[in-house]
Order: sequence, then C-alpha cells, then structure tokens
Amino acid sequence: MKKNQTRALLVGATLLAGVSGMAMSDGKEGILQSWFSQTTPGIDRVTTDLYQEECGSCHLAYQPGLLAAQSWEQIMGSLNDHFGENAELLQDDANTIRNFLLNNAAGRVNYGLPNKFMAAQKGKPYPLRITEMHYFRHEHEELGADQVQNNPEVKSLSQCNRCHQGARQGLYDEHDVIIPGFGRWDD
Ligand code: HEC
Ligand code: HEC
Repeated sequence: MKKNQTRALLVGATLLAGVSGMAMSDGKEGILQSWFSQTTPGIDRVTTDLYQEECGSCHLAYQPGLLAAQSWEQIMGSLNDHFGENAELLQDDANTIRNFLLNNAAGRVNYGLPNKFMAAQKGKPYPLRITEMHYFRHEHEELGADQVQNNPEVKSLSQCNRCHQGARQGLYDEHDVIIPGFGRWDD
C-alpha cells in the first residue's frame, strides 16, 4: 500500500490482512496438503498476504529462499529506487516484509534449492537480483534472446512464471518449463 493512503484505512487493512491471512493459511493447509507436499522445500508458496499484495503486482512475489539476506536487506533499503520504479511502502509494512524475507532467506533456511544458490555463490559478492546469482545464470545460460528478451510473452528472465508453470508454488523443476512460443523445454 502506498504512503499517501490514509492512516486509519491502513491500520484497518493491515489488521484485516493479518487476520484473514491466518484464517486462510489454516484452511489451506488442510485442503491443499498434498499439493503443498509437492512444493520445493525452502521456496514454498508465499502465503503472506501482505507480501503477495505489495511485492507481487509487478512481478511474481519471489520466494525469499531465492536470495541471500544481504540482498533482501539492500532491496528493502532502496525501494524508492527499485530497478527504475518507486516501490516504497509504509514503514510498518516494509518492516513486516523485511522480517519475512530475512527470516526465510537463502543461508538462513536449510533446504535444497536455497542451499544450491548459496553454495554456487561462495566467494562471490551477493547481487541484488536472483537472475544475477551464479546458480541462476548457470541454469539459464542456454536460453537465447529470441526466447527471452525478444519474446513478447516473456521479455525478461525476471518473469519466472512465464516459463516455470509452477513458479507461484515454488516449483522450478526443469521438467516443468514451457517457453511461450517455443513449447516444453526438453534437453
Ligand atoms: C511498481 C512495480 C514493482 C513493485 C511494486 C515491486 N517491484 Fe520488484 N521489480 C520491479 C521491476 C521493474 C524489476 C526489474 C525487472 C526486470 O528487470 O525485468 C524488479 C525486480 C525485482 C527483483 C530482482 C528480480 C531479478 O531480476 O532477479 C527482486 C528480488 C524484487 N524486484 C523484489 C521486490 C520486492 C521484495 C518488492 C516488494 C517490497 C517488489 N519487488 C515490488 C518492479 C516492482
Ligand atoms: C525464458 C524462460 C525462463 C524464465 C523466464 C525463467 N526460467 Fe528458470 N529455467 C528455464 C529453463 C529452460 C530451465 C532448464 C535449463 C536446463 O535444464 O538447462 C530453467 C531452470 C531453472 C532452475 C533449475 C531447476 C532444476 O531442476 O535444477 C531454477 C531453480 C530456475 N530455473 C529458477 C528460475 C527463477 C527463480 C526464475 C525467475 C527469477 C526463472 N527461473 C526464470 C527457463 C526460464
């Protein structure tokens, strides 16, 4: 939510989001147990409503395990100049999201994919972007401009969900990739 909206509305909305968030995650766990169990540990679907709402409108709400804490810290500290956009938030919302990201960042959780990202980054600086992490670059180096930048349905590697059918659920398996206009990835 942007800074210029009224304080009262914000307090109410934040409370509501918190309550409905809790109620929803209770229900979801029961109904979607089997579905959840298929997600990749450490990069599970983000169930935090506030995060989805504030960080999921311009691009996928990236799972926190895809970046190290240092990177998230930098991102949250420069939202007024966020890759050419102003993504500034109210201080309270920014703090909540920052805590969520830092607590679940790669290096702070002990799971497969975040660990692979961290291992591959060893001895190298931590970039602001997931797409500049060494592991990511290695996994995507076979892709050409026709499939990404010049592909009107993709445009940028930052749009994970254009190709990874399960990205929103934290599923990045290479066998579940369909590149728009090119079809299923098969190598
Ligand atoms: C107003 C739109 C907007 C909002 C809101 C927004 N972002 Fe972004 N974000 C962008 C743009 C634009 C990029 C660059 C995408 C590209 O290069 O194709 C980006 C890129 C990123 C990247 C790097 C992706 C990569 O290339 O690896 C991360 C991480 C990120 N945003 C996190 C966040 C977080 C966390 C929030 C919420 C606090 C947020 N974004 C909210 C517009 C936004
Ligand atoms: C243009 C389509 C495209 C986009 C956009 C894309 N990917 Fe991928 N990704 C692929 C392909 C294709 C592979 C398989 C590469 C291979 O097997 O050589 C892959 C592989 C991966 C892998 C390795 C999976 C495995 O099974 O080891 C991860 C993790 C991943 N992508 C994460 C991401 C994330 C996170 C984003 C967004 C920041 C993203 N990808 C954006 C096409 C894409």
